Amino acid sequence: MKRYLITGASRGIGRAIAEKLAGPDVELLLHGRDTVALAGVYKTVKQHCAHVVRLIHDLAVPSGVSDLIHQVGRNPLDLLVNNAGIAIVKPFCEITSIEWEQTVGVNVTAPFMLMQHFAPGMPPGSSIVNILSIAAKTGFPTWSAYCMSKFALRGFAQCVREELRDRKIRVINVYPTATDTHIWSHIEGEWPRHKMISPEDVASAVAYALSRPADVTLENISISSLAGNL
Ligand SMILES: NC(=O)c1ccc[n+]([C@@H]2O[C@H](COP(=O)([O-])OP(=O)(O)OC[C@H]3O[C@@H](n4cnc5c(N)ncnc54)[C@H](OP(=O)(O)O)[C@@H]3O)[C@@H](O)[C@H]2O)c1
Repeated sequence: MKRYLITGASRGIGRAIAEKLAGPDVELLLHGRDTVALAGVYKTVKQHCAHVVRLIHDLAVPSGVSDLIHQVGRNPLDLLVNNAGIAIVKPFCEITSIEWEQTVGVNVTAPFMLMQHFAPGMPPGSSIVNILSIAAKTGFPTWSAYCMSKFALRGFAQCVREELRDRKIRVINVYPTATDTHIWSHIEGEWPRHKMISPEDVASAVAYALSRPADVTLENISISSLAGNL
């Protein structure tokens, strides 16, 4: 049986990845904070999976990440998907220190702690997937904290990839364009959701990368919309 941990699986891209990767030989470890939303995902995937576990932890603080690690336990993971993320969008002069710390906590420190803890036990042929963003490659006005966090995780993950190469562990970085999820509901402004790709588009790309032969790795996947950037 394969053991997959997906952070931020309660909605959006994480939920779509969970639904796509559900299978009879899979134990899905689904992380989120919203117990009701996570229960909905659990109900959907349970019938398709060998085992499903719900993990409710706040990843903005290191103690929440440590609790998650503790609950996952000692059995090795075959897949870690660092997907949970937040977007604080405002002029850089208005970003509070709390917002900055939360962005670093969820988008950078949590993936760092999870990779550092789980990678040493992962067997050859396993994978780490980081859901980054086009904001890991380009700066946009008012997206400075978000871009900072995604650039940081991209750099960290590129180095981890090289450290894990000899152990046959793949590090797959995914760079989606604007995707029609709940994350946009918190961001001020009118956003043309019809121009966005779907969470399922991202999940399909992840599933395709994971389905490649063990000696092949899709290291960087950029997913754009033909409608262009917003
Ligand atoms: N949507 C886009 O346009 C887009 C584009 C490129 C990349 N991304 C990236 O894709 C990833 C998923 O985003 P999404 O668009 O699917 O957003 P979403 O629908 O808002 O989902 C975000 C997920 O992250 C979890 N999360 C947020 N803050 C958390 C915290 N403090 N502790 C633990 N979990 C937390 C949420 O859990 P709860 O809801 O249960 O609290 C939720 O499951 C993020 O890393 C995001 O940066 C998104």
